[in-house]
Amino acid sequence: MDIKDMVFETKSFLEKKIGSIDAAIIIGSGLGNLVQKMNVEEEIPYKDIPHFPKSTVKGHAGEIIVGHIGTNKVLAFNGRFHYYEGYSLSEVTYPVRVAKLLGAKLLIVTNAAGGLNPKFHVGDLMLINDHINFMGVNPLIGPNIEEWGPRFVDLYHVYSDEYMEKLRKIAVEKGVNLREGVYLAVAGPTYETHAELKMMQGFGADAVGMSTVPECIVAAHMGLPVLGVSVITDLALPYIVQEITHEMVLQAAETASNTLSELIWQLLEEVSL
Ligand code: HPA
Repeated sequence: MDIKDMVFETKSFLEKKIGSIDAAIIIGSGLGNLVQKMNVEEEIPYKDIPHFPKSTVKGHAGEIIVGHIGTNKVLAFNGRFHYYEGYSLSEVTYPVRVAKLLGAKLLIVTNAAGGLNPKFHVGDLMLINDHINFMGVNPLIGPNIEEWGPRFVDLYHVYSDEYMEKLRKIAVEKGVNLREGVYLAVAGPTYETHAELKMMQGFGADAVGMSTVPECIVAAHMGLPVLGVSVITDLALPYIVQEITHEMVLQAAETASNTLSELIWQLLEEVSL
């Protein structure tokens, strides 16, 4: 079966259960509490969804959670698929295809990232205003599905100005020091060498992580506006030796996620998609 038929079957299955949606959220490492506040109307494990990839990494549960925030019906993907786990990029970006076909008008993505900008601190939130694809692959490689989007996609407007501006305003109102910058994606699963970190700083990147960019590229392909926020879970500064473990990353993400949840909650209460 080709990808188009698979996505269509997944969409039909979900549509019967939940109807159409207004926004989708992809929840990154340790950010599971984002949807805890939401009044859960439907919870569907990935394993019960036809053709849906299954997640494996610690800290990633693997279910769809549906509820309302304000007037908006929100579908949260609790558990993302990473390229380093061995998923193909069409699997990694599968949720985005499904979300768009279910009617999403906004994609919110969160992730854990290492801070390359020397002004950043562990626990900071960074609004993603642009990205650098350093994964060495692109999710749009292969035959193009014309119904979904064009062969050649411009990436000048991936991150929605409108929603970035709303989030900046909400952060000011709430007294949150929302950082902003460029997210650089690597394939992983290794963290970076000193020389690589220095190079990435030279490229103009502010944070580095192992996800998100494929999903955002596919969203751009389908004309789905994106709002992205990174949680800075460690400082990825060249030639400053510091321990970094997956546990540290999860811990820092957990702490900052309350604030991030509040910002995103407020945004979805204010807008009517
Ligand atoms: N590098 C790459 N990915 C990451 C990092 C990092 O320092 N922190 C969290 N994800």
